[in-house]
Amino acid sequence: MMSDEQIDLFNFATDPQPAPSTNPELIPTSAKVPIPPGIYDSMAAMAAHCNQCHRCELGATRTHAVVGRGNPQADLMIVGEGPGQNEDETGLPFVGKAGQLLDKILESVRLTEDDIFICNIVKCRPPGNRTPTQEEMDACRPYLLEQIRMVDPRIILLSGASSVRGLVGDKRGITKIRGEWLEWNGRLCMPVFHPAYLLRNPSRDKGSPKWLMWQDIQAVRSKLDELRGSEQPQ
Ligand code: URA
Repeated sequence: MMSDEQIDLFNFATDPQPAPSTNPELIPTSAKVPIPPGIYDSMAAMAAHCNQCHRCELGATRTHAVVGRGNPQADLMIVGEGPGQNEDETGLPFVGKAGQLLDKILESVRLTEDDIFICNIVKCRPPGNRTPTQEEMDACRPYLLEQIRMVDPRIILLSGASSVRGLVGDKRGITKIRGEWLEWNGRLCMPVFHPAYLLRNPSRDKGSPKWLMWQDIQAVRSKLDELRGSEQPQ
């Protein structure tokens, strides 16, 4: 049951205290307490909460919460599964081997840090790099929804099956679903292979995972150009 104290945490409309977004103490520790949409006014305010968060058990073992990197106003948002060891140590997403490959893939279609914002379904490292549980993804989901609201990307790249399941709820395997545009809450999403999977499958032959990724990232680049091109001049 929600305690009065927890309900009070979000009674900021009438509360003379600073808004919760500026006070990282004000975070519900139970995943049963919702995080109201629109509560954060910056990624930094959200990051402060994430670093104090114990909405699931991952909070007990993290070194750093890994919130995001890139341009918080980017047109393209990339959502991975969850931090690995390098990310847990540095507090930045996709900085290990998989991240380096992801950067190369983006560079191949001339996408820079300025064009993208990268984050994950869960903000804390699952021990041993296991797949996050549904419970952990659900507990962390309000943070991702806040990130999507704040960044307001034109396209969301969903990297790997957990990312598709965590955001859209589609449980199909990534091999089935990759390369197909999905619409989620009025936003365009493209499921793609996770770069860690590409590291394990290095062939570039036609039809291989790397070859398919090349098709998918080009489709994303073209769609981005198309959406930017159709922008009405102010
Ligand atoms: N894999 C992910 O899904 N996310 C990261 O941040 C790093 C590796």
